Amino acid sequence: MKPVSSTASWRASIISSAEVKRGRFISLEGGEGVGKSTQLKRLAEALRARGLDVVETREPGGSPGAEAIRKLLLEGEAERWTAETEALLFAAARADHVARTIRPALERGAWVLTDRFLDSSLAYQGGAGGVGTDAIRQLHAIGSAGLLPDRTIILHLPADAAAGRAATRDGGAADRIGGRGADYHGLVALAFRSLAEKEPGRFRVIDAAGAPEHVTDRILATLDDLL
Ligand code: TYD
Repeated sequence: MKPVSSTASWRASIISSAEVKRGRFISLEGGEGVGKSTQLKRLAEALRARGLDVVETREPGGSPGAEAIRKLLLEGEAERWTAETEALLFAAARADHVARTIRPALERGAWVLTDRFLDSSLAYQGGAGGVGTDAIRQLHAIGSAGLLPDRTIILHLPADAAAGRAATRDGGAADRIGGRGADYHGLVALAFRSLAEKEPGRFRVIDAAGAPEHVTDRILATLDDLL
């Protein structure tokens, strides 16, 4: 039997680890060409200027295992995977990303900024792909213990403006999913809007039009209560 003092100190360590101040977890979401990557970098710089420890990451990817899965997801034939297989691969990549990159950073008190997270799977595979949001949430519960961001910022641009920006970046080359038709991307936009309406505490929808510095200011204003 364990001596009382060791049981007591074991209990104390459990309690203190539960009380450790956790960092903040922020995701940036939106359709193709809305400027997420640019804004993620600008936001990271602004937060570092306030003395915060900031980790920049992305999905699919963000850990060596998840980056390997990213290649499977974004390269190859348009019909390479069924919608269900695609959802499982995104959930598997996310599970590794959460376990290896996101949770350790949050536990040391860092701010984690990710370019896409669960809500992309809910909008693309769950909504546009027809897998359903309940199934996507179940996969997330299994793979990542249901971890959710403290705040999710949806960058919104009218479809024609976003298509123009997407065509001018990376030489305009679309990946397997980005290259899908306007109907698919229209459903993605609808799904993001409905997610934001259902969970107003976590989501903020930001107008992504105009100068990048103004968009960054709008994003920072939505984080005031977390700073
Ligand atoms: P990426 O190169 O990161 O594109 P973007 O700059 O538009 O973010 O490629 C990610 C692609 O994968 C993008 O088309 C969105 C899609 N995606 C999903 O379909 N489901 C997901 O869960 C995630 C994270 C991304």
